[in-house]
Amino acid sequence: MQLDVALSLAELAELDLSGRSAVVIDVLRATTTITAALSNGAAAVIPHAELDHCRATRKTEPSLLLGGERGGLRPADFDLGNSPAEYTADRIAGRRIAFSTTNGTRALAGCGEAAAVWLGAFTNRAAVAEMLLRNKRDTILVCAGKLHLANLEDTACAGAIVDSLRSVGVTLTDRARVAWAVYDQYRGDLRALLAESDHGRLLVDIGLGTDIDLCAELDTCHTVGHYREGEITATE
Ligand code: MLT
Repeated sequence: MQLDVALSLAELAELDLSGRSAVVIDVLRATTTITAALSNGAAAVIPHAELDHCRATRKTEPSLLLGGERGGLRPADFDLGNSPAEYTADRIAGRRIAFSTTNGTRALAGCGEAAAVWLGAFTNRAAVAEMLLRNKRDTILVCAGKLHLANLEDTACAGAIVDSLRSVGVTLTDRARVAWAVYDQYRGDLRALLAESDHGRLLVDIGLGTDIDLCAELDTCHTVGHYREGEITATE
């Protein structure tokens, strides 16, 4: 089994996903939030590249909740923003959620050729690693990054997944080793990593700094989102 990492969406465009699994990572905050939503009982999260696509979908399915962000903030007519803390069981259990964020949902859209697409975050790192080991397929860890560029937190999360698997005989590409080295630098203090990152500082500036604590939790959640046929559902 080979583990590769796309450090950015620009790199993803250069890689062949066919026959491989993809794990999409957007630690701050899309994949952490979707994982929390599924863990708290959401029936499905339906990712859309554009906010207007979410609004249009609700016209045909009025019971949908709308979630997501632009500029980090909840659109005024949406039910939920992009903070994991908002996706509590009392608000979302059993519900289907149309969801759009700046980078995370676009990264999912870029993985159409993969044999399977999963969602990773620090919170479900161990569960993702166990699932990849069970599946034994060559895998690309896809960092959503910022627009088409790499970022610190998604690179480190890819490295955390590599860290869980490197002792069991997987083959690592150079990019997987780079991601692992970044994770290793910060492994003792993931909160500091997120607080120092460009996007972490933006979240603090717009009053959402408490999300950093939730997104820095490691191995606290057993749920792994599985993206297929346009919807993300939970696997345990
Ligand atoms: C994104 O998809 O770009 C992020 O999840 C943005 C955010 O922190 O809301």
